[in-house]
Amino acid sequence: MEQTSNKFKRTTVTSALPYANGPVHIGHLAGVYIPADIYVRYLRMKGEDVVFIGGSDEHGVPITIKARNEGISPQQVVDKYHNIIKKSFEEFGISFDIYSRTSSKTHHETASEFFKTLYDKGEFIVKTSEQLYDEVEKQFLADRYVTGTCPHCNNDKAYGDQCEKCGTSLNATDLINPRSALSGNVPVMKETKHWYLPLDKYENRLKQWILEEHKEWKPNVYGQCKSWIDQGLQPRAVTRDLYWGVKVPVEGAEGKVLYVWFDAPIGYISATKEWAEKKNSEFRRFDSAQHKSQNSEKYVNWETYWKSKDTRLIHFIGKDNIVFHCIIFPAMLHAEGSYILPDNVPANEFLNLEGDKISTSRNWAVWLHEYLIDFKGKQDVLRYVLTANAPETKDNDFTWKDFQTKNNSELVAILGNFVNRSLVLTQKYFDGKVPELNDLTDTDKQTIADIAVFPQKIASALDVFKFREALSEVMNLARLGNKYLADSEPWKLFATNPERVKTILNISLQICANLAIVMEPFLPFSSATLKKMLQFDVNNWAAAGSSTILAPGSKLNTGEMLFEKIEDDAIVAQVEKLNNTKEQNAMTETSVAPAKPDITYEDFAKLDIRTGTILTAERVPKTDKLLKLTVDTGIDQRTVVSGIAANYDPEKIIGQKVTILVNLQPKMLRGIQSQGMILMAENSKGELCFVQQEKDFENGAMVK
Ligand code: MF3
Ligand code: ZN
Repeated sequence: MEQTSNKFKRTTVTSALPYANGPVHIGHLAGVYIPADIYVRYLRMKGEDVVFIGGSDEHGVPITIKARNEGISPQQVVDKYHNIIKKSFEEFGISFDIYSRTSSKTHHETASEFFKTLYDKGEFIVKTSEQLYDEVEKQFLADRYVTGTCPHCNNDKAYGDQCEKCGTSLNATDLINPRSALSGNVPVMKETKHWYLPLDKYENRLKQWILEEHKEWKPNVYGQCKSWIDQGLQPRAVTRDLYWGVKVPVEGAEGKVLYVWFDAPIGYISATKEWAEKKNSEFRRFDSAQHKSQNSEKYVNWETYWKSKDTRLIHFIGKDNIVFHCIIFPAMLHAEGSYILPDNVPANEFLNLEGDKISTSRNWAVWLHEYLIDFKGKQDVLRYVLTANAPETKDNDFTWKDFQTKNNSELVAILGNFVNRSLVLTQKYFDGKVPELNDLTDTDKQTIADIAVFPQKIASALDVFKFREALSEVMNLARLGNKYLADSEPWKLFATNPERVKTILNISLQICANLAIVMEPFLPFSSATLKKMLQFDVNNWAAAGSSTILAPGSKLNTGEMLFEKIEDDAIVAQVEKLNNTKEQNAMTETSVAPAKPDITYEDFAKLDIRTGTILTAERVPKTDKLLKLTVDTGIDQRTVVSGIAANYDPEKIIGQKVTILVNLQPKMLRGIQSQGMILMAENSKGELCFVQQEKDFENGAMVK
């Protein structure tokens, strides 16, 4: 068995567990699952011992909110999406050894034990603090149960754990004007007890481990870790007041569950246990049928994959998960004491869609289950485009136009065309049998030498998680084939020199065979088709590079096409679908601004609001928005500077009846003292209109 390097004997590959509160989209695939799958397929082809772990993340507040909104149980929510997600992954050939879920019994036991171990070791600190509480719903408001205004960017739709606008991670108590997401009520503060993981205690160890011992990590990952560590690590609460999740297994923790980010990564371990159990029970069944003993080497022990120093642990994730996989989970594993830490965390940046951030709530996504209907059988096309465009070093954009171009001018015109020409010519001249190799020209020799270096080039890129580069080398091999055929022009030679044509097509077909091998990790479906066409079945990385893979005389299987052109109408339909989504969003986004906190009557009675009339109006020089008005308030005639110039021409509003707040403290605006404020209504599009009385009252009437 070949080894990854001298230090390691096996690899545990995990891919982030997607939340089971919606289907998966191209962003998930590009950022996490395709790179992980490519990597694992490549290791398997090298004969390495590797386990590929996946599963659904089925806890957390968003799932309970979704259940509440839809009037079903959280279990029903996760059952539905777990199945959809699992099926999408299967159809895209994501070759998990196990795809589990965190609502499984094994997971609850494993996560619970893990917590208990840390608890018994005295690793946690317990703190009582004031948290937001919804008195009507009788519930503490953790994380996404609270919305409010972000203290950093003023976004009024920030969540209690994060502001999605500026990306800042928040505590629910940081929000300005917090509101319960359950009832819209203003929450109160109430004491509650929670268990905290003292990240500060592990800070030095983490610092040494990441910043000194893992300088080879991707710059985006290393940089994020460094900035977290430089800011100083704080204790993190790992329990929540919630009913849905893994119960906190200690006394005094009734009504509490583990924080979803504490239990979810343990899901990797639980899934590995389930995989080992399943595998071993299959072996056991087989062995007892054969009357064999059960202590053979093939039995697997999950612990080897998590605790042996010669196991390499790799986490594939998106960038929003970096802190959890590089700091918090390693701190948990370190605190537990018997686990290895990840050797690498090749996190990707984000994939955008047609220039906009992918968003589940705004339905701005290409959903995998929908793609599979619209582009049946074209899984590899999406795998190709998403790998060629992978957001490896920076955010990247998916556009349907680019999808079409990459299919038509790369997959079809380069790879498909080369394979097709090689096979069609062989069919035509040699009855579909691999011709023999005759005397080699210098070009032949050079081509054979060139073929030999591709597997190493591709492997070197894959070894350092440069999937785009690896894929472009695969395409370069196809380009090499195309050039070889075009330069040697067998179709012109056949009449005069069929022996020469035999050699040319032999070499071309050997390139096809090489392609079938090296493209397997990236384009597994097309690789299988190509192998069927070439009638060989080798799935071994070491076999690539050779120019004697196909034996002369062996029969080929022609007639299939690897790729087909995607026409404009298919692309137009997708773009239209997205345009519809945009329109829909524009309609729903014209919703009203959220309510403000209650005030008392006394608060209101402080406002002196009167009816009035605009007497004069002129633009304030060098501004776009401001008008200088004189208003008759019934009390006096005064100057008011008003920000309505974008909506009203000064000439048109002379004589306009208005409602005016007269006891607002005077304020200097552009050198003019403004005394009071004209009341305007503003709709969601930012348009303004006057608030005015329905009858023609005299100026100075009070608004109560
Ligand atoms: N569900 C999380 C997300 O989609 C990822 C969880 S990864 C795990 O962002 F490690 F916690 F499992
Ligand atoms: Zn913000």
